[in-house]
Amino acid sequence: MKKQSLYLLVSVLVPLCILVVAGAQENMTAVDNSVFGKPERTRAVFRHESHNEKANIDACNECHHVVKDGKALENESSEDKRCVDCHGFTDSGRTPSLRKAFHLNCKGCHEKSGKGPVMCGECHLKGDR
Ligand code: HEC
Ligand code: HEC
Ligand code: HEC
Ligand code: HEC
Repeated sequence: MKKQSLYLLVSVLVPLCILVVAGAQENMTAVDNSVFGKPERTRAVFRHESHNEKANIDACNECHHVVKDGKALENESSEDKRCVDCHGFTDSGRTPSLRKAFHLNCKGCHEKSGKGPVMCGECHLKGDR
């Protein structure tokens, strides 16, 4: 590859990719449920950025965790992966199924903190497909 084109690649394309990746979650208003094949419910409401601001969650790995020997690693996160990359459709050893993982994570924190929705219809809004 010529030097100029390498420069172009690094100076334009790389930042562009980072922007696209960094921006993805900013527009997120619900959690994609297409991975479930034929979902029973509507997509769960989740306004990624405003949710985390309001809920005062600074650490990405509160949700995007990396777990080793049953322990979440403090300085590592997995926002480059989807939950489904590690959570299958059935429990596997200590790794909960995808559906359980979401419910434990989302509802679990809401129950523990006494804030945020815990009723089915508050996350899976009627009519939103
Ligand atoms: C705090 C929010 C929240 C609450 C409360 C909640 N869910 Fe979910 N649920 C999710 C998320 C997030 C997912 C995974 C992504 C998605 O479906 O949008 C999910 C996934 C599911 C799925 C698998 C996908 C599908 O549609 O087939 C089912 C079934 C489900 N939920 C049913 C329920 C039922 C029944 C209740 C009440 C007992 C409930 N959920 C309460 C957030 C919630
Ligand atoms: C309260 C939980 C939570 C926190 C905290 C959180 N995220 Fe997420 N994020 C999610 C969920 C859920 C998804 C959807 C995952 C899936 O579909 O498998 C997601 C998706 C993403 C995506 C992919 C966007 C897309 O459209 O595919 C990126 C990038 C991301 N998050 C970055 C971050 C960064 C960076 C932070 C920290 C500043 C962060 N997240 C904090 C829950 C969270
Ligand atoms: C890199 C792989 C990986 C990714 C990505 C991942 N997980 Fe996990 N998760 C695991 C493993 C492994 C365990 C089992 C931990 C143990 O051994 O106790 C686990 C356990 C859990 C648990 C139960 C234990 C706990 O920490 O409360 C929840 C809830 C959970 N994951 C939610 C999520 C959600 C929600 C996402 C996406 C935002 C996600 N995980 C993404 C690997 C992953
Ligand atoms: C670590 C704690 C924590 C986790 C994890 C978490 N939440 Fe929340 N959530 C909160 C808190 C705290 C609030 C109340 C914020 C406020 O004061 O308005 C909230 C509020 C909400 C609300 C109502 C306000 C809004 O932003 O629309 C929805 C919907 C919601 N959460 C969905 C989810 C979903 C879906 C997930 C999982 C993908 C999730 N939450 C994971 C703590 C959490």
